[in-house]
Amino acid sequence: MDEGLLGEEANLKSCMEDWNELNKEFTQLEATHDHYKKTLENLWDAQKKCLSGIAHQRYRTKQISDKMNRLKDTSKPETHEALKQVRLEMLHRKSQFREMEEFLPHKNGIYLSIILGSVSVSLLNKEDKYAYKHNYETFKATVSYFSMALSLILLFVSEYRWLDAVLHFLLVWYYCTLTIRENILMVNGSRIKGWWVTHHFISTVCAALTLIWPDSYTYKSFRGQYSLFSCYLSFLYIVQFFYQKGALYRLRSLGQRHEMDITVEGFMSWMWKGISFLLPLLFAGYFFQLYNAYVLYRLSQDSQCKEWQVLFLAIIHLILSVGNITTTLKVVFDKLKPDISYRRQQLRNKYRFNSNLKKDM
Ligand code: COA
Repeated sequence: MDEGLLGEEANLKSCMEDWNELNKEFTQLEATHDHYKKTLENLWDAQKKCLSGIAHQRYRTKQISDKMNRLKDTSKPETHEALKQVRLEMLHRKSQFREMEEFLPHKNGIYLSIILGSVSVSLLNKEDKYAYKHNYETFKATVSYFSMALSLILLFVSEYRWLDAVLHFLLVWYYCTLTIRENILMVNGSRIKGWWVTHHFISTVCAALTLIWPDSYTYKSFRGQYSLFSCYLSFLYIVQFFYQKGALYRLRSLGQRHEMDITVEGFMSWMWKGISFLLPLLFAGYFFQLYNAYVLYRLSQDSQCKEWQVLFLAIIHLILSVGNITTTLKVVFDKLKPDISYRRQQLRNKYRFNSNLKKDM
């Protein structure tokens, strides 16, 4: 027989053998995929049961608590003691519900539903939550380095209005993105104060108004001060990044108990050092912003002022400054309140990567 024909037959045989081998592997793959689908169905089933179980527990706890409140005035000392004990247990149970919910899907909320539709943004394990938070902080720092460099350039280069527009547009995009990322963080259990998210919404409007502010006498009078303020604000975001990054690493170590030998007390002492360093810098920024509001207001009263943006911007800078001052003071005073064991447990469990919660309760 022809040698070429023999070679062709051998090749065909080898192809058939390989194909049959692959078919066997595919049958195995189908079985694995079926198992995966079944596991997913079981998972969805278990998620639904847990969610409705928690809702039921919360509802019943509230009913029992109302009943206990009605008992309060007429109770004997022993009853009073028993009620106190149950109330303590209820408080502890609340933190257990929150811990359970960390591993369950959440609804998106109106803002995210409008932007993303019904796609789920729930992160169901603490590694993913940690990675997302870390990425959020890094994103803020990276953009802040850019905006700081750009503001510095604008301080010395004033003849190109389009360059100003690049900074303002960057800030519109940056703050808008922050609001989305922060809403995703909140859906996943972050305790960001509502004001910081609102602050980023208002800052988007502020940057947009500055973007459309015509290149007039008022704009030229304020642009130097605004570039300096933008530069300082970016610097503040970078300093905050180092604080938040440090807090994140330490919270993770608290959950893991290795890497660093860190305790809740150690974390609190580090946190206070960080806050004491940050506060003077933050307050300098808030008073700078208050001064911006004053200068803008004065400009809006100038006979040469024809732009409506000036007064609006004055009001916005005032709102941002007052909101920042009051929220930061509230955050610090809340932190000064005596620590309850529930808060300590929260810190320890924040980035605990295994789900064995009962161990330390
Ligand atoms: N933006 C976004 N998230 C913030 C935040 C901010 N300004 N301040 C706090 N958070 C987050 C924390 O990371 C934490 O998140 P987590 O639950 O996912 O872990 C949560 O909110 C609760 O933090 P809290 O304990 O209240 O405060 P903290 O110790 O993390 O930070 C300050 C305290 C005062 C340092 C911080 O709030 C801060 O930097 N404030 C000033 C912000 C500001 O002025 N911005 C505008 C001008 S730059």
